[in-house]
Amino acid sequence: MKIIIGNDHASPDMKREIVKYLEELGHEVVNFGVDTTESCNYPEIGAKAGRAVAAGEADCGILICGTGVGISLAANKIKGVRAAVCSETTTARLVKQHNNANILAFGSRIVGIETAKDIVKAYLDAEFEGGRHKIRVDMIHELEK
Ligand code: RB5
Repeated sequence: MKIIIGNDHASPDMKREIVKYLEELGHEVVNFGVDTTESCNYPEIGAKAGRAVAAGEADCGILICGTGVGISLAANKIKGVRAAVCSETTTARLVKQHNNANILAFGSRIVGIETAKDIVKAYLDAEFEGGRHKIRVDMIHELEK
């Protein structure tokens, strides 16, 4: 898969480890995030990644900030984005199966690196179930009009 990754200054270390993990799994990763702890603005990174994912430039996105919340809120303002913050694997699996989330988000101040890798794996391994879930996902995007 081609995966866009984005992060703010709270999470360059976790981003690097997740990129390494994704590459070990055989994925192509495009880095939209920052690589230092110098203060930056997570809305800009979330929006840039969201625009690229919504435009189909990648199969999905992964966003990391301190909590995963701010950067996902920004991404969710972009039409076509379904970004979901996950702190454990059950939610990470279900946001793909039921919500067809096209961006996974988590917080470097909330989860440790091993949990973060498990969250990523659960999300990437899951498949959207469609059917009644597609009707509901379509309803979400109707709200954008
Ligand atoms: C940055 O300090 C922090 O506010 C940010 O990473 C994130 O947690 C916001 O939601």
